[in-house]
Amino acid sequence: MFDKKPIEKKEYSFQLKLAIDHGLSTMDYRLFFLLLPHMEIVNGKYTVAGVNLEEIAAQFGAPVYVYNGEKIVSQYERLINAFKPLNIKVKYACKALNNSSILKLLQKHGCGLDTVSINEVLLGLRAGFTANDIIFTPNCVSIEEIQEAVKLGVHINIDNISILEQFGSIYGNTVPCCIRVNPHILAGGNAKISTGHIDSKFGISVHQMRHVARVVKSSNIHVNGLHMHTGSDILDAGVFLQGAEILFEIAKEFPDLSFVDFGSGFKVAYKEGDITTDIEELGSAISQRFQEFCKEYGRELELWFEPGKFLVSESGYFLAKVNVLKQTTATVFVGVDSGLNHLIRPMLYDSYHHIVNLSNPEGKQRIYTVVGYICETDTFGWDRKINEVHEGDILCFKNAGAYGITMSSNYNARFRPAEVLIWKGKAQLIRSRETFEDLIKNEIDADIQ
Ligand SMILES: Cc1ncc(COP(=O)(O)O)c(C=O)c1O
Repeated sequence: MFDKKPIEKKEYSFQLKLAIDHGLSTMDYRLFFLLLPHMEIVNGKYTVAGVNLEEIAAQFGAPVYVYNGEKIVSQYERLINAFKPLNIKVKYACKALNNSSILKLLQKHGCGLDTVSINEVLLGLRAGFTANDIIFTPNCVSIEEIQEAVKLGVHINIDNISILEQFGSIYGNTVPCCIRVNPHILAGGNAKISTGHIDSKFGISVHQMRHVARVVKSSNIHVNGLHMHTGSDILDAGVFLQGAEILFEIAKEFPDLSFVDFGSGFKVAYKEGDITTDIEELGSAISQRFQEFCKEYGRELELWFEPGKFLVSESGYFLAKVNVLKQTTATVFVGVDSGLNHLIRPMLYDSYHHIVNLSNPEGKQRIYTVVGYICETDTFGWDRKINEVHEGDILCFKNAGAYGITMSSNYNARFRPAEVLIWKGKAQLIRSRETFEDLIKNEIDADIQ
């Protein structure tokens, strides 16, 4: 399990320092990262990175999103290390969690950014990413939005032939672009997060590459990258390799590439014992094949990935207070002070969030259905075994770092929650809870006399 290679201090940052300082001269990354503390009970209280979660709810109020910054950085470093000896570029998919403190944290550690709207580009630039660190991968946006991104100097990824034609007419070969390919691979944990299949709106069909080549030639477009993203929550490393072969084949038609972007889709753990994408195995398989491909291509290219969930999902915890317990003929409902307005993923695409009662860690386990206060059905979890729940308890929803706050809304005129970052043993508020003023600040009174 352990290799003989000593850890070189210069290669790693603080989260590996712990291992080095404890005299581990050799290690298996899988083991190390499994051992990194997530959430644990210390002195009868649930803590994350040494901070008591219930105290965060008491200090900042609930509902509240809490992120473990060290977990985010360690996931980033794990990815980089899995792909050594390649120097991969990670472009964090900021749609997953776009709080500026999180963006700055990743930027500081060398990460780039994947963006899908001009405002995400602006958020990235504001957080300190250079234009060269950012790729703009929108779908179905206007040519005007793409022109704005060109002005800001970021990498442009084009996902349909209509925009490619317009882009070519405007810029010719003066601005390079990447082509998003739809490889027609059905992958991903749920139909709503599968993006690379034949019925998907994303990318340009692998069968339309002749058409793409004609447009590129006619307008003398400089294609500097190829991209694909087949979906989220992909378990099988074979899917990535299958997609890679498709891009390598297409690459032969584009001699001026600088990078190939394999998107994302790495599956993380949602519950104990969950199977996840084996990043280390994937890293070694792809690295080897990519090096061979670069030889065939005749040049070194950069390999890019754009993970969202892999970097931030497990770092996040959503805390909500129990308002009511409601016994029905079918179940016991736990009604919390939140709903699909704050965490829509279970209702949107059946995502699983493990639920823990922070207020009663030692209590007897009972079966509950946890729901929100929204006026549609908004169930967070059915038939969950949770330590006995009382009104006023604080529940914790795990894997809340990705697509939690960024998908939240003001539905039912509720405020969006606060966000807190745990960094170096300290909990810091990184977004305040909204107020009534926020709800109405853009409203303009109509003249209804
Ligand atoms: C183009 C693109 N890249 C990257 C991602 C991030 O995927 P994940 O969060 O599964 O890593 C997405 C997710 O929707 C995406 O659409």
